[in-house]
Amino acid sequence: MSRSGKVTVVGAGFYGSTTALRLAEYNIFETVVLTDIVEGKSEGLALDINQSRSIENFETKVIGATTNAQGDGYEKTANSDVVVITAGLPRKPGMSRMDLIGINAGIVRGVAENIAKHSPNSVIIVVSNPLDEMTALTQLATKFSYNKVIGQAGMLDTARFTNFVAEKCGVEIASVKTLTLGSHGETMVPVPSRCTVNGKALSEVLSAVEIADLVDKTRNGGAEIVALLKTGSAYYAPSAAAARMARAVITDSNEVMPVCAWVNGEYGINGVYLGVEAQIGKNGANKVVETKLTADELASLKVAAEAVRTKQADVKDL
Ligand code: NAI
Ligand code: 2OP
Repeated sequence: MSRSGKVTVVGAGFYGSTTALRLAEYNIFETVVLTDIVEGKSEGLALDINQSRSIENFETKVIGATTNAQGDGYEKTANSDVVVITAGLPRKPGMSRMDLIGINAGIVRGVAENIAKHSPNSVIIVVSNPLDEMTALTQLATKFSYNKVIGQAGMLDTARFTNFVAEKCGVEIASVKTLTLGSHGETMVPVPSRCTVNGKALSEVLSAVEIADLVDKTRNGGAEIVALLKTGSAYYAPSAAAARMARAVITDSNEVMPVCAWVNGEYGINGVYLGVEAQIGKNGANKVVETKLTADELASLKVAAEAVRTKQADVKDL
């Protein structure tokens, strides 16, 4: 089996290290590079992952690299096809994702500038929070075309919605389809009109009150885990989502996925990074795919767009 493609994961914390492991276990990439500013952390984790290769049967090699603010260490990431940015602080109980904006903007800007220098043709998948704003900042800092910078949030929020619906209905996860658009924050827009259980509309299976409760649980899905963990945030479902996006880019699969992408005209919304469905391939988000929404869902998506637009305008000064 031939393997191709180089993926760099920046930040070897919980999110980054689990993403690197998932990418390596796909066994389709030639190399996965994992970086961190903590001396030796990514090298140690890379060794550990490589030592699992004979048990899990994969050949992809993981390389660790310690980097610093001056850009030392980024040579090992050179000419990556895809870069996943997970560097930054996670939230603590009681914090919103937006509380991280000041500190994470400085980290993400520095990372983005180094990636632009060493991997000018890469597609970047941003995961650092607050997600919609860090995605916009990465595009600004790299000056990459909008399609080449995308954010991971919708895959995760949709997966959470799917899990909640499957548990409520007592059905297999594979029989449930859901969708979540909007921001990765308070203006998240779970889309009940696009949800089905065994092919039946969600409204035929659950009452309006039950659906509203699951929508609420989905919006609070990240905070629920933060409150339980007490230190750090979720990473198993988030890393699964980012790894799938990276795979779609490398394999040029053109899968339609809910991601944070540049919206310019679709849904009557212009010039903002927002959670929408997009076709993902070797150039990142090839196109935003519009779906039919109810009038209320469309209104909520427009509210989300205006909320993130204001914050995204602020990031240029951070
Ligand atoms: P973590 O604290 O476990 O790891 C963060 C890592 O980033 C640390 O190892 C730290 O040393 C490293 N780091 C800091 N500055 C760096 C730099 N300049 N270059 C390279 N590495 C650097 O946090 P975790 O759980 O991995 O989360 C990472 C980020 O992902 C957080 O901002 C979190 O809020 C976000 N997140 C986003 C989700 C999404 O759906 N978009 C879901 C879950 C988390
Ligand atoms: C999550 O949704 C904290 O954004 C992170 O789990």
